[in-house]
Amino acid sequence: MIYFIDGHFTRRDELRISIDDRGYYFGDGVYEVIKVYNDELFTLKEHFQRLFASAAKIKMTIPFSEQQLIDVAKELIKVNKISNGHIYMQVTRGSSPRTHHFPDPAVSAVVTAYAVEAERPVEDMENGVAVKSVDDIRWLRCDIKSLNLLGSVLAKQEAREAGCPEAILHRDGVVTEGSSTNMFGIKDGVVYTHPVSNLILEGITRHVVLDLCKDLEIPVVEEAFTLDEAFEMDEFFYTSTTAEVMPVTAIDGIAIGNGKRGRLTKKLQDAFSAKIPSPLKGSI
Ligand code: PDD
Repeated sequence: MIYFIDGHFTRRDELRISIDDRGYYFGDGVYEVIKVYNDELFTLKEHFQRLFASAAKIKMTIPFSEQQLIDVAKELIKVNKISNGHIYMQVTRGSSPRTHHFPDPAVSAVVTAYAVEAERPVEDMENGVAVKSVDDIRWLRCDIKSLNLLGSVLAKQEAREAGCPEAILHRDGVVTEGSSTNMFGIKDGVVYTHPVSNLILEGITRHVVLDLCKDLEIPVVEEAFTLDEAFEMDEFFYTSTTAEVMPVTAIDGIAIGNGKRGRLTKKLQDAFSAKIPSPLKGSI
């Protein structure tokens, strides 16, 4: 496996990371996960724009241009022969003896990236999954795709211990998002999801799905709903780069709708699949 670190492509066993990296001490950095379908990066512009936006929000300068990082991602796919999977890329505020404030004098941010092969979760996409509600104890800048993920880690673990692959997070009973996904309910043919704010990450997949709703003339209301309202939805699903459009069939053990993947959810999944790079456009 070839990784990218600090301006170089390096074999995994030769990779060196400083103990003074601020990502290691503080989670002081930002990241992106970008899907690869049939040798092509999906919605790559949007992901790199968000990476730079997240960096700006934490007052960190990325020592590469957007195009240079896109080229890094493409090279990682090529050298590691990844056809279907994803790229992970993170940027930390660099390596410097531990002080809470920014390094003074400033040091260069460190970019690390790798590519992995990963299957689409097709079985879960057909059968749907159960989720567990968990208190959203995260900070108030969830719009930043920060490396600081303890709130998400604890929520995901709580869900996992209840046999669920994802947690549905709520603040005082109001649903925000998932621990690593955006949440959507459907009632009487209308799609509901939390509006873009500091309380959720503005998901790229969320955006793709809202565009698909427009194409399919499915009405959307970007308004927060409560956990009690979530139980009453006809259909439910969540989205992310790796989960795509994932049907939710139960919340806290209570079936949503008929407890199966919903009709509109399936329609959105089909429309999403039609949008991803086709095998016919692969490298053959
Ligand atoms: N998670 N909300 C949160 C808190 C997330 O961490 C993510 C992504 C999303 C969905 O965003 P997108 O559609 O752009 O992937 C929403 C990534 C996949 C992760 O942490 O692995």
